[in-house]
Amino acid sequence: MVKKIGILIGSLRNESFSKKIANALKTLAPASFEMEEVEIGDLSIYNQDFDDEGNPPSSWTEFRERVKKFDAILFITPEYNRSVPAVLKNALDVGSRPYGKNVWDGKPGAVVSVSPGGLSGFGANHHLRQSLVFLNVPTMQQPEAYIGNATTLFDVNGALINESSREFLQKFMDAFAAWVETNVPKKF
Ligand code: FNR
Repeated sequence: MVKKIGILIGSLRNESFSKKIANALKTLAPASFEMEEVEIGDLSIYNQDFDDEGNPPSSWTEFRERVKKFDAILFITPEYNRSVPAVLKNALDVGSRPYGKNVWDGKPGAVVSVSPGGLSGFGANHHLRQSLVFLNVPTMQQPEAYIGNATTLFDVNGALINESSREFLQKFMDAFAAWVETNVPKKF
């Protein structure tokens, strides 16, 4: 059965390593996965007044409706100042409200952190997991995915050329496919 997987990327940068990892993961996904990147850069910053007044921006309502249709969510993020980049946190916040209408609720998920550095985005990975616990996203625990030294992994066209990373990402994707099969999302 086809599974619709939303990909949320915590970087807006054209040459983003996180985007390159997302592209590599798309090529490693099973045939049953339809993977779609969800644009989050155009979501205005969350302000509860708009929900309380019943007048949320169209970018929020379209985003919420889109997320509801996914069977699972894959989060791929850099680390900003040892935490989750604001653009990704904002997307989580927008999807979590209004109160009681959390669109993440029950959707299986997985986290990949990416960094040019050796700590591999550990802080972002775990801060994101902390929010996902509260948002009730059953998040794959193993394998954890910390992709470090990202400057060394791609060719000039952005294709993944590091073989051990490719093998690891294949294992990660296989485990995620099994995770999505066993965690049935809530229907909205
Ligand atoms: C960074 N960077 C960074 N890297 C890291 O490993 N830990 C960190 O805490 C931070 N903090 C940080 C803050 C801000 C504001 C910026 C702009 C950058 C560096 C970061 O990993 C690097 O720019 C990556 O290339 C960003 O990911 P993308 O855009 O390549 O996916």
